Amino acid sequence: MAADRTDQCRLSYIYGVLAVCFAGFCWCQEVKTVSVFENADVGTAVVNIPLLFGITAHVHTEKAELPCSVLDGDRYGRFAVDENCTLVVDNPLDYSVQSEYVLKVLISGRVHREVKVRLQVHDVVDYPPVYNITCETPTVKQNGERSTYLFQVDGKGEGVTSDGDVLSAKVRYPKPNWDLLPSDHPQLMVNTDNGDCRVDLFWAVYQAIDEAIVDKLWLTKVHSTTCFSGPASDLNSSVFMINLIDKEANYDPRLSYVRENVPDSWMESDFQKYIVYFSVTTMSGDKRRFVCQLPETMPSIKIRPVEESLMTVDIVAFNYMWAEIKPVGCPPGRYGWACQNMCICRNGAYCHAFNGACKCQQGWTGVACDIPKDTVSIVATPSDPRDLYISGNVTLRCEVYDVDVVTTSWIFPDGSAKTTTGADGTEITISDIKTTDNGPYTCQVNDSRGDVFKTDVVLNVDSCPPDRTGQHCEDVCGCRQGASCDRWAGCVCPAGWTGRRCQTACPQGTYGYGCRETCECENGACLPSDGVCNCTEGWFGQDCSKPCLPGRYGWSCHQICTCKNNATRMSD
Ligand SMILES: *[C@@H]1O[C@H](CO)[C@@H](O)[C@H](O)[C@H]1NC(C)=O
Ligand SMILES: *[C@@H]1O[C@H](CO)[C@@H](O)[C@H](O)[C@H]1NC(C)=O
Ligand SMILES: *[C@@H]1O[C@H](CO)[C@@H](O)[C@H](O)[C@H]1NC(C)=O
Ligand SMILES: *[C@@H]1O[C@H](CO)[C@@H](O)[C@H](O)[C@H]1NC(C)=O
Ligand SMILES: *[C@@H]1O[C@H](CO)[C@@H](O)[C@H](O)[C@H]1NC(C)=O
Ligand SMILES: *[C@@H]1O[C@H](CO)[C@@H](O)[C@H](O)[C@H]1NC(C)=O
Ligand SMILES: *[C@@H]1O[C@H](CO)[C@@H](O)[C@H](O)[C@H]1NC(C)=O
Repeated sequence: MAADRTDQCRLSYIYGVLAVCFAGFCWCQEVKTVSVFENADVGTAVVNIPLLFGITAHVHTEKAELPCSVLDGDRYGRFAVDENCTLVVDNPLDYSVQSEYVLKVLISGRVHREVKVRLQVHDVVDYPPVYNITCETPTVKQNGERSTYLFQVDGKGEGVTSDGDVLSAKVRYPKPNWDLLPSDHPQLMVNTDNGDCRVDLFWAVYQAIDEAIVDKLWLTKVHSTTCFSGPASDLNSSVFMINLIDKEANYDPRLSYVRENVPDSWMESDFQKYIVYFSVTTMSGDKRRFVCQLPETMPSIKIRPVEESLMTVDIVAFNYMWAEIKPVGCPPGRYGWACQNMCICRNGAYCHAFNGACKCQQGWTGVACDIPKDTVSIVATPSDPRDLYISGNVTLRCEVYDVDVVTTSWIFPDGSAKTTTGADGTEITISDIKTTDNGPYTCQVNDSRGDVFKTDVVLNVDSCPPDRTGQHCEDVCGCRQGASCDRWAGCVCPAGWTGRRCQTACPQGTYGYGCRETCECENGACLPSDGVCNCTEGWFGQDCSKPCLPGRYGWSCHQICTCKNNATRMSD
């Protein structure tokens, strides 16, 4: 009678009497329910099993073997028990794959006891992270120790000073040698963990001069600026927003979002009044330029044109401002704005550089792609088709779950087969790949009950090895400017370059990819890579259409006229 035995066992623990158990073994089952959030980190302690069942002074810690073990109910090894019989998360959980586990656990000791723990997995909003293909980034080939950033941002602005000088500034973020390690008082926070291709950057304004600028803009009600990567009417244009947030302005609806995302110390600090919040939504993996819509009238703003100098000038008008954002990507296995986080994706899954979301290879599921969907699955190494090329190698491994394998067979595209007994020999390598090797590769498993399981992958290799081109990859590309080399097209030149090896800059008056764009500079020449105008002497503005103000001349109106009697110098 199970119920009696349970009672007897419970009694035996209360009184410390073991007599009711057979030869020192009690096999009693009790079920206790505990819960765990699906986003619990690997290593999270869920519950101490003996404590859960009211068992103390029971575990023999001097024993060499584990006092507790999971006997059943955890097919894919999601949990483990540590030396103190604490149940810990051993692999990532995913509510959508399995929301409840009933683990049968054996507690060893002077008295063995079998218990059941029902684990309820709680669904967590916005988990697992979404893999958004809209903003997939390239994977950076790692070169040494140098760390990389997910994005490179170049900004440029031009303004006119109170005495007619034209100043322009170009900034690049992150700066080279930027301090990667988050300090105790970070001034910048970046969040790329949204699943909708949005990057949020928060900047705590501390410097006296920065604060004075923001203060001025705030007082003149310039609280936000929007920058578009195309016509503002086009819904497909990516958007870049710059928002000033006054920490005391409690009516501001954006404040609560900012508060959730920045360290508490920012909100509590008395030294800083404003937070500038930049938000970018990228709709592609390409470099984009966002041109900002500046307000018609601006207050005059005091800036320090030379860093670490005390000299200041007043900017009375802004001509233009833009930011160029280039998704760079992270090295393999890393994600986050500074590529500081480790991906959990397994079995050849791609890891999204924004939020670490995994895109599983066929046959796998779970937040980390470590739970097989089917009995048989195939893992390819390398997994990224971009890393496969003619004359290269690929390994296909056939993985089998929960069946008693008798034979494993590989069936090749030409119909031939290779059969091995048992689970051995489930890996094949195709070396020196030729286009004739393309086609389906099937792994078929026969088990001891006469059942057959199979799955396949299709090999489709069409590119040449790096720096090779031609039908038989017989030619060397030798591309300049870091251009990529295509089997059929040869060198694929970056913006601003042309020629068979990308050795020639775009002809005057053109710019961009394939020199297809036409310059729009009125009194100047555009830079071939991006079409930015380099105005001739005497002109300024985004398209060089503005003549220098009276009393000024030269490149960027830097020169001051020394003419007498209010004469102006003619701009040539
Ligand atoms: C187990 O308990 C001992 C004593 O309390 C402790 O020192 C040890 O760190 C614990 N082990 C684990 C894995 O938590
Ligand atoms: C991906 O990002 C785009 C751009 O923000 C968004 O419109 C889309 O809904 C996102 N897709 C998913 C699956 O969340
Ligand atoms: C946005 O892009 C999609 C797909 O590229 C296209 O079908 C659609 O017409 C575009 N919408 C606008 C307003 O340009
Ligand atoms: C492919 O494998 C062969 C031997 O198995 C090796 O010699 C060759 O270097 C490999 N090629 C590549 C591109 O890894
Ligand atoms: C596996 O089973 C199928 C179907 O019964 C049979 O046709 C095939 O020959 C078997 N393969 C091997 C290697 O025994
Ligand atoms: C812009 O033009 C000036 C004068 O013609 C030249 O010295 C300068 O190098 C040019 N700048 C760029 C980035 O080409
Ligand atoms: C120069 O212009 C200023 C202001 O426009 C005026 O006050 C001054 O009288 C002028 N000087 C001459 C010599 O015309």
